[in-house]
Amino acid sequence: MDFNLLSEQFKGYKNKSITDQVLGYDKLIDLMGEIKGKRVLDYGCGSGDFSRQLVGKGASVLGADISESMIEEAEKKIDKNFADKINYVIVKNNQLPLLSDNSFDFVVMNFVICTISEKSIVEQIFKEVFRLLKPGGQLFVLNVNWDKSNGHEFLSFKLDKVDDLKSGDKVGSILKWDDNIRIADYFWSQSNYRHFFEKAGFGNVKIKEILAIGREHPWVDEINYSPFFIISGQK
Ligand SMILES: C[S@@+](CC[C@H](N)C(=O)[O-])C[C@H]1O[C@@H](n2cnc3c(N)ncnc32)[C@H](O)[C@@H]1O
Repeated sequence: MDFNLLSEQFKGYKNKSITDQVLGYDKLIDLMGEIKGKRVLDYGCGSGDFSRQLVGKGASVLGADISESMIEEAEKKIDKNFADKINYVIVKNNQLPLLSDNSFDFVVMNFVICTISEKSIVEQIFKEVFRLLKPGGQLFVLNVNWDKSNGHEFLSFKLDKVDDLKSGDKVGSILKWDDNIRIADYFWSQSNYRHFFEKAGFGNVKIKEILAIGREHPWVDEINYSPFFIISGQK
């Protein structure tokens, strides 16, 4: 997969996605609890939108991504007032060898594993972030909820209807902004994710699904189908 191209496409989408922000990122921040003063690794940070949100809440953040162009973009967007609280690094071979064991309170991975087709790479990433977390630290993974929302349409995106969905299958969706953008991801089920967490050594693994409540936004299927799930585990 061309991660630079993917990241370029995703960059424009970010600012327009109410579903992602309200039912994804905002819920993730709620679930993380107290983040002020905490050290967070945003693995697969893209252009750093979520890293900046975490810094705005008082965390100190390292964003890491395989895409050099995304890291350049994220660096350009660093707010001078928060420059001592945010740094970015490029990931090589799914590892961050210069970082010490047990150095983060939280790791977040938002919409990253869905871009990876090989189970062995996913397992390497989980192993590496487990190493980097402090004992008691938590990993949170935010992802599209294909198990429950296959074929559904949301305010900001629409998932194809895919029959006989199997782990590792390519799945398509449309990001609804300006000219709709078609993207392809890989399907990993909620139980695959649970396995990735447990195989890496995480305990206390929990899955949270989120439905929209009320009509503050012109929701489509968000009221009845959860567009995302957040899975977390503790070292
Ligand atoms: C769909 S984007 C999501 C970006 C960001 N997390 C967000 O929520 O806006 C997926 C990101 O994961 C990165 N990525 C994919 N595979 C990776 C890997 N093996 N290691 C680190 N980053 C990776 C891509 O370069 C891309 O920036």
